[in-house]
Amino acid sequence: MAVIYFKAPGKIILFGEHAVVYGQPAIAIPITRVAATARIFPNLSGDKGSIRIQADDIKLNADLSDLPEQHPLAAAVRFTLEALHPQHIPSIKIQVSSSIPIAAGMGSSAATSVAIIGALSSFLGQPLPKSTISNLAYEVEKIHHGTPSGIDNTVVAHHVPIYYVKNEPIELLRINQPTYWVIADTGEKTPTHETVTAVREMHAHDPERLNELFKTIGEITTSARQPLVDGDVKTLGELLDENQRILASLDLSSPQLDTLIAAAKSAGASGAKLSGGGRGGNMIAVAMPDKVDQIITSLKEAGAVRIITSLLAKCEGK
Ligand code: PMV
Repeated sequence: MAVIYFKAPGKIILFGEHAVVYGQPAIAIPITRVAATARIFPNLSGDKGSIRIQADDIKLNADLSDLPEQHPLAAAVRFTLEALHPQHIPSIKIQVSSSIPIAAGMGSSAATSVAIIGALSSFLGQPLPKSTISNLAYEVEKIHHGTPSGIDNTVVAHHVPIYYVKNEPIELLRINQPTYWVIADTGEKTPTHETVTAVREMHAHDPERLNELFKTIGEITTSARQPLVDGDVKTLGELLDENQRILASLDLSSPQLDTLIAAAKSAGASGAKLSGGGRGGNMIAVAMPDKVDQIITSLKEAGAVRIITSLLAKCEGK
């Protein structure tokens, strides 16, 4: 039996995180430099119908039946089986690996789920469409984050830049001119559900102020759409800075994020902001291609623990 292999990219949110949970638009792009992969092997030594999950990165090697229901990798497998109702499940091993940093705003949990669901459905001879893979991965995201907006599973499963509004049909963005993005990791790990909870508490305390801020973030995101399509780095930079000011006013930045953002800008980035849940994780900067090397040097000197550059290439939207 052939080994089945499914790869899902990382992602980064360019505009609109947190506000997207409250119905505002957000823009996210896939980052293919990092990825989660699931491989499925027949397990000749396993009991009939047994499914073994091996993920060395998190030191997991266990039978599905021994894992708790809420275990995210087990849940990805179970949701896929529930969706497909296969007549017969051969004894298999699912091997999962990932180069996506964990709890850093790069979609590692969504990519792992998408890789498992994609690989398992193909292995069972019933490859699922991207939208179904995304919906199943969303169910797993709920276990991770409680109230996710759905942006992570959507961009990772569709593997293209998206303009996303919760509970609305997704828009796949057409890109006419490429842009360069620099992503730098603070090394600080703050789980997304913590910052989402903190924002929910702030919202409960002062809904009027928070709704106003989310609305402004939504306007920034909408304004960023055409500059992103056109590769207008100067306007994108200004909008990133505006978005960052609001996120900082919501106490979502951190001293190290501020340091990296300042370092990128002093080295010629057109603008920069935190990306994802915040209070650590990654920042992103947009820059003209000739500035990228100096930005990388400056970020390293400022203490970035990992730097990824990403070219958002031309692509067809829908
Ligand atoms: O930290 P990440 O990359 O998973 O992004 C979280 C984005 C939020 O808007 C804060 C939460 C969400 O579910 O959209």
